[in-house]
Amino acid sequence: MTSAASPSPSHSHAAASHHHGPGHRHEHGHDHGQGHADTGQDDVFAEVLDLDAAVFAPYLTAVTGRVADLAGDGVTHVVDLGAGTGTGTFALLERFPGARVTAVDSSPAMLARLVDAARAKGLGDRVDTLETDAGAGLAGLTDADLVWASASLHHVDDPAAALTGVRAALRPGGLLAVAELDGLPRFLPDDAVAGRPGLEARCRAALDGLHAEQVPHLGADWGALLGAAGLTVEEERTELLELRAPLPAGTGEYAHLVLGRIHGALDGRADPADLAALSTLLDGGPADVRRRDDLVVRSTRQLWVARRPADTP
Ligand SMILES: C[S@@+](CC[C@H](N)C(=O)[O-])C[C@H]1O[C@@H](n2cnc3c(N)ncnc32)[C@H](O)[C@@H]1O
Repeated sequence: MTSAASPSPSHSHAAASHHHGPGHRHEHGHDHGQGHADTGQDDVFAEVLDLDAAVFAPYLTAVTGRVADLAGDGVTHVVDLGAGTGTGTFALLERFPGARVTAVDSSPAMLARLVDAARAKGLGDRVDTLETDAGAGLAGLTDADLVWASASLHHVDDPAAALTGVRAALRPGGLLAVAELDGLPRFLPDDAVAGRPGLEARCRAALDGLHAEQVPHLGADWGALLGAAGLTVEEERTELLELRAPLPAGTGEYAHLVLGRIHGALDGRADPADLAALSTLLDGGPADVRRRDDLVVRSTRQLWVARRPADTP
């Protein structure tokens, strides 16, 4: 899934100019509809991440609040592992006003985008970046009070190695928060397209099959992996989020991008009649998801919070 051609990490500070360091480029070699592809899909993927953040903003606020309760006072260094466009980075900068964030990602394009956003928000001097494959460890990081990993660990080839690296990056007593999801959100009523009942459920089943091949750690038992890495799980929760009308701004666009990615990922893997039906939801016509008032957004989100024991070397 991931090839670490050259695992040399590349540190940079957001207040300085963009780095074009020698850190490796992350190669997926496929686009499974959730991770990033390294070609022209980057912009679309970044937009999906930003729309997800907007649509589920109240959930993120609640989760960072719970993490802050467990972290206690004195959080000065947060690591956002697999930071993407910076959803977690910016939420955590707000949640911990006295902290700086090191945003880690294997994608230089994502980090460049995040740095631009940090500067635009006037937060450049509170954000550092580290371009690396999380599976290769977090070079030079040893004092993190909190590591935040949202929808990123399942992309790593060797999650156990990544968690060993996270443990080493945490100070004794520091926290790791792992936020995961069951795949892409669902949006459609069962009868969204006349004559094709259950369209989205079938597409999701086909996508699950694809994920099982290409993203085998999606849905992993993170609680067990955290324990095996020498971290003590203090919280584990699963929530089914369900958003109904009035939906947050951007929901239609979000549904359009997500279903478009599913259409692309399932090309040649789903019933052509289902793909044609899906197209009618994307083509700007009367059934287009950007025009509908019957969308319900459903997503299952999981959270694990684990601590590096205070008395371990
Ligand atoms: C689904 S996005 C999640 C982004 C962000 N955490 C969020 O919640 O919006 C996954 C991110 O992990 C990054 N990523 C994937 N594999 C990685 C790896 N092996 N090491 C570091 N980052 C990785 C991707 O480049 C992408 O930015």
